Amino acid sequence: MIEIVVPATSANLGPGFDTLGVGLNLYNKFYIEEIEKGLIIEGCEEEYRNEKNLVYTSMKKCFEKVGYKEKGIKIIIKSEIPSSRGLGSSAACIIGGVLGANSIAGNKLSKDDILKLATEIEGHPDNVAPALLGGMTVSIFENNNVYYDKIKIKNGIKFCALIPNFKLSTEKSREVLPKEVTYKDAVFNIGRVSLMITSLANGNYELLKVASKDKLHEPYRSKLIEDYNLIVDFCNKSEALGVFLSGAGPTIMVLLEEKNEQFYENIKELLKKLKKTWELKELHVDLEGAKLKEN
Ligand code: HSE
Repeated sequence: MIEIVVPATSANLGPGFDTLGVGLNLYNKFYIEEIEKGLIIEGCEEEYRNEKNLVYTSMKKCFEKVGYKEKGIKIIIKSEIPSSRGLGSSAACIIGGVLGANSIAGNKLSKDDILKLATEIEGHPDNVAPALLGGMTVSIFENNNVYYDKIKIKNGIKFCALIPNFKLSTEKSREVLPKEVTYKDAVFNIGRVSLMITSLANGNYELLKVASKDKLHEPYRSKLIEDYNLIVDFCNKSEALGVFLSGAGPTIMVLLEEKNEQFYENIKELLKKLKKTWELKELHVDLEGAKLKEN
């Protein structure tokens, strides 16, 4: 049996829509093996225990790519990453499936091939890249190739995920985006995404508040998330270093100084007053990315 551990991810990091992402220390585990026949899926809700399961469909895509005819497949899923919350649960399933299938088929795909296939499946590379590689990544998909690089974030920073008790599918969250944006909004984001990268790499964290701002997706998506503006305004007025929507949402991600504990007390007071329940989770960067072990 193969064991694959894949980290959660937060994509976009505010202005870096479909481009920036970071691996975080919350994990999904996948136990995969080839069996004599059929398909067995355990550890997930009933509705996902069939051939439409994303881990399985990703495995099939990998088998097709390398020309491997599998007999049967057994998948056991143990997930810590909540689904449809903007923390990369789909990316984790895709990476888990492709890595598992590649191993069963004799490791024909390189890491870059795996990233390319995973991006083709997900449609954008910003979650699958850090899920596979760990750390903070910049990635783009052009002419069927993924171009990526890693950024080393300076020490002294942590992430606080505010996770609501409702789901928002990436599909729905992408549907509300405009087909075109203004030149002014594009320039707004270019400046901030550049500043986001340099301030994280150089440890100039006082720049993160302004660097976190976005005009390409958050203004449209915020309408789908109850109390989004209230929470973000509160964070911007607090000692938080920066705040943005995690991936397609609905999780809101807050950047904090590593030693800051006071923020939790303050935000808890606000969250208590809201209609929806929001869970608060302290997270740190996962530097290693997906890991595979053959038992
Ligand atoms: N960049 C993607 C989005 C991440 O914001 O839609 C979610 O998959």
